[in-house]
Amino acid sequence: MSTSPSSTIAETFRHSPEVTSAIDAVITRLEADQAGLVEARPATKAGAETLQDWLARSKESRGKGALYPYVGSGIGRGPLVELVDGSVKWDMINGIGVNMFGHGDPGMVRAALESALGDVVMEGNLQYNSKSIELSEFLAQEAAKGSRIRHCFTTNSGAMANESALKVCQQKTNGAPRVIAFQDCFMGRSTTMAQIGDSAAGRVGIPLNAQVDYMPFYDPAMGARSIEMAVWHLDMYLKRYPGQHSCFIFELVQGEGGFRTAPREFFVPLMEMCRERGVPIWDDEVQTFGRNTEMYYYDALDLGEYVDVVTIGKMSQVCACLYTEEFNPKPGLLSGTFIGSSSAIHGGLSALRRLRDGGYYGPEGRIAGLQAAFREHADAFVAAHPEWFPAAKDTFGRPITEFVAGTGGMCRLTPFGGSRAMIMKALHVMFDEGVIAFICGHDPYHLRFLPPVGVMEPEHFGPVFEILERAFARTVAEG
Ligand SMILES: Cc1ncc(COP(=O)(O)O)c(C=O)c1O
Repeated sequence: MSTSPSSTIAETFRHSPEVTSAIDAVITRLEADQAGLVEARPATKAGAETLQDWLARSKESRGKGALYPYVGSGIGRGPLVELVDGSVKWDMINGIGVNMFGHGDPGMVRAALESALGDVVMEGNLQYNSKSIELSEFLAQEAAKGSRIRHCFTTNSGAMANESALKVCQQKTNGAPRVIAFQDCFMGRSTTMAQIGDSAAGRVGIPLNAQVDYMPFYDPAMGARSIEMAVWHLDMYLKRYPGQHSCFIFELVQGEGGFRTAPREFFVPLMEMCRERGVPIWDDEVQTFGRNTEMYYYDALDLGEYVDVVTIGKMSQVCACLYTEEFNPKPGLLSGTFIGSSSAIHGGLSALRRLRDGGYYGPEGRIAGLQAAFREHADAFVAAHPEWFPAAKDTFGRPITEFVAGTGGMCRLTPFGGSRAMIMKALHVMFDEGVIAFICGHDPYHLRFLPPVGVMEPEHFGPVFEILERAFARTVAEG
């Protein structure tokens, strides 16, 4: 593709020796300063006071306290992050899956510095620079490898990508009023997405005007029966409301819902039925994108042929709604002031290229290796401490003994019978001891890890699980 840049003043500036050597010098200095970050460590006494100060200011300005006493100092080294109190922690959640190269990655810092050489901080839908086109092109080309997806609309949050997808599906079905979604799905925080997302707490006080038909997600304990039940439900909804559905929203791995996976055989009959009855198929990959054995999870399950619309976000830095030629909406439907910041556009593109070309994907790729390493450590941990792993119970009171689960860079552990109170307690003690993670699921609840797939090495799980061992012992002791 010809994008010959040579004749602009901008290119002359960017490639000038003064600029390139200044960037090289910053990176060299960064690497020297971060070299000492090799393990978790506690806060200093003075640092602890500084942190308390920041937390008080944060509480005052935001009107409520934060979940964790986290205020970053602005430096880290891969999975390790330094906080303003001088402590260093293993960051196993990364802003809920955003920082796939962790903290202070020289490649990401370089991309940010290069983006800062541009003429603007934010790019938008009326005026954008060439990197923004390259990013859309990249996302659409990767999507098209296993599907009919052709076009890409970039935007600034997963919720906005989802709002865009909903509009695309609604326009395509001449304003069909209902949507189909899975129980326990999460879609974002806009008023409509909060209604579709299956969390009661997320819609307290919000008038309900979205019409949602919820489907049961795959239940491994029921196996083939679970597939039959889902097909039965879908048929029932389509007969009850013929021609009224704008889409079926598939979250192929439930993220907030508990890192629940389902086999291809679960989705195929549902997607086939949608196709036969003219219901558009929208795949919400905001959480799964990039962090599994394929960049788009539909490729991991070989479901791309069915997908009409797909949304992505988080580790892409810029979010997007992508669709087939047939679903390309009429002009005027999708726009918005912001696409994203120049650093998000540069950083996202450079990181995704590194992931695509760096041996991360495929059944033998680095991401598959990370899941295997997590499971190895987690299985040994469960075996060594059965007292921390009583069985959780499902809705029917049946024991759930799958304590370790997940896929790719989505890793899950279910201690303390899946009790929300105990898992929240454990998370706070883990944070104090030096590991940052998060919760997912809806009774049972789970510990959720989204390690930075770009820089996490299998051996990093060693110190992480050592800290978990101390933290769980403290959790139990402190009740
Ligand atoms: C599956 C899914 N969809 C949509 C969203 C919303 O994304 P954002 O928080 O960027 O609006 C999320 C966020 O966690 C998600 O997991």
